[in-house]
Amino acid sequence: MSISARFLEELRNRIALSDVIGRKVRLVRAGREFKACCPFHGEKTPSFTVSDDKQFYHCFGCGAHGDVVGFLMQHDNLSFPEAVEVLAQQAGMQVPRSSPEEAQKERASRDLYALMDETTDYFQDCLYQPSNKNALDYVLGRGLSPETLRAYRIGFSPADSQSLLKHLKSKGFSFEEMVKAGVAKISDKTREPFSFFRERIMFPVADRRGRCVAFGGRVLPEHLRLPDRGGFTPPKYINSPDSPLFHKSRMLYGEAHARMDVANGGKLLVVEGYMDVIACADAGFKGAVAPMGTALTDEQISILWRISSGPVKEPILCFDGDNAGRRAAERARDRIFPLLHPGHSVRIAFLPEGEDPDTLIRTRGTVSFLAILEQAMPLSEFLWFSMTSGRLFNTPEAQAGLKKELLDQISRIADRDVQQLYRQQVFSRFSQVFFNPGSARSLEKARGSSFPREPGRRNRNGPVLLKKPKKPLDHRKTLSSRILLAALLNHPHIYDDVEEALGRLHIEDGRLDLLRQKTLTLLYESPDTRSKELVSALRNEGFSEEINNILSESIYVHASFSSPHAQPETVAARWTAFWDDLAGEKRKSKI
Ligand code: UTP
Ligand code: MN
Repeated sequence: MSISARFLEELRNRIALSDVIGRKVRLVRAGREFKACCPFHGEKTPSFTVSDDKQFYHCFGCGAHGDVVGFLMQHDNLSFPEAVEVLAQQAGMQVPRSSPEEAQKERASRDLYALMDETTDYFQDCLYQPSNKNALDYVLGRGLSPETLRAYRIGFSPADSQSLLKHLKSKGFSFEEMVKAGVAKISDKTREPFSFFRERIMFPVADRRGRCVAFGGRVLPEHLRLPDRGGFTPPKYINSPDSPLFHKSRMLYGEAHARMDVANGGKLLVVEGYMDVIACADAGFKGAVAPMGTALTDEQISILWRISSGPVKEPILCFDGDNAGRRAAERARDRIFPLLHPGHSVRIAFLPEGEDPDTLIRTRGTVSFLAILEQAMPLSEFLWFSMTSGRLFNTPEAQAGLKKELLDQISRIADRDVQQLYRQQVFSRFSQVFFNPGSARSLEKARGSSFPREPGRRNRNGPVLLKKPKKPLDHRKTLSSRILLAALLNHPHIYDDVEEALGRLHIEDGRLDLLRQKTLTLLYESPDTRSKELVSALRNEGFSEEINNILSESIYVHASFSSPHAQPETVAARWTAFWDDLAGEKRKSKI
């Protein structure tokens, strides 16, 4: 881009660098310069300096360096011309017309846009041709409505490798342009061009202005494809290669639609795939976007925040509820932490295991999807959840270890305010869970010479913290029992699946065992009792204290399925798995 050096100089002179940066980062004056924690990498002590005199910023930590234009490009993910445009507007200046070479380039990409648009039309036409009825039946069979097919311009690429090229030729496009746009490739063997997408359902990828810049193509299922591929199994999805119009890591599928919907108050959702975006749109969630086969990039995160509306920007990231989904969520967390700043975060929603938004909406309906979105955890909650669930913290060392892990994570947040508030919240939760007033008192006694006579009763409050020193196994056992009971009290619908096992369990703590029996009786009498009613019935029977100690964060922290926030569909299976583990352990300890 050849914006003249004179113009840029004028721009830098008219705008104070610290004004522009100060709107995005908290600057503290230090002599003639300013200091801040670097917005481009995680740090606790400021090594980012801004000099208005020298007209540049520099980070001694990560080496980030540049002028006012560079800052906007890096921080707001803008292209050079976009950044210049934004600044010129602030300075009340007019960006001068570009040079002849620039104009030439612009014309060339205009032609590529036209080519992509023509290709999109062509694929759309193909989808409705009688000879491709298989393809249309397939997408309709998956529940896509005709309106959504139109709105997202979904099409079909024919199996033969030449028809698209012929069509584009007839419209005046050259092979060279087709290759450049990524719709054609040159064969290594014959040196002839051929169509890149063949016999696939085509999802045009639109840029933020709604212009098609790339495609994703999904294979038809085996039985609908033409026979004889020589045993070759094609990848399920292929995406256009990066091109002058398309940079996969800087775009999100569905962005243009989402932008409009979110501006009108819709929820911004991030899902995994093309079909999920479409299914969400069909169900009325038009604010859904997806990265294209890769984990979220920094650029995509800043796009999400830019699209978000309202004072607190919290797009909801949806993940599968299995281990892979949880790992993906943790990777996203790690990406996002350094980038957090005031008013900018995400929420995390987990779908039931094995479901994606598409299958969930189609099999269980929009309402269950909405329920899951409404349960989405704030990122700070997810931090706690991801570091604690399924682990046991019953020694000071284990607790200290957890504390260190949490603090290490939090120190990766670059923004100082957000970092500090995270630390406060996590500390307060930490002490609530591990030092709630009841257990703290007991701890005091435990430290003294006389250990409580009746540790079973007294210790009920703090299974996490306290162990009867001589009988640690007993204590483990009450903890497990509490977990099992908590899950049932919070999710009584699992009764059928668990009653037999729970009926055989013997809990040494007498009160707890009574509670177990009473719960089983109540559910036996009325199996449809809901959690709230069940719990209040038990409280009426005098079990309030026991219940307080069971329905508690200090129990859930060990096994997320016992929490009221667990996915209802998953509780029974996880309860049983936990039970089986326990039985296995018991066998081992007997041997
Ligand atoms: P999935 O395999 O989960 O597919 O890939 P899906 O979106 O559920 O598709 P359906 O429902 O089987 O039709 C999720 C996303 O990962 C990318 C695509 O963007 C896809 O939408 N992907 C997947 C690829 O890029 N290449 C592949 O081979 C597979
Ligand atoms: Mn799917």
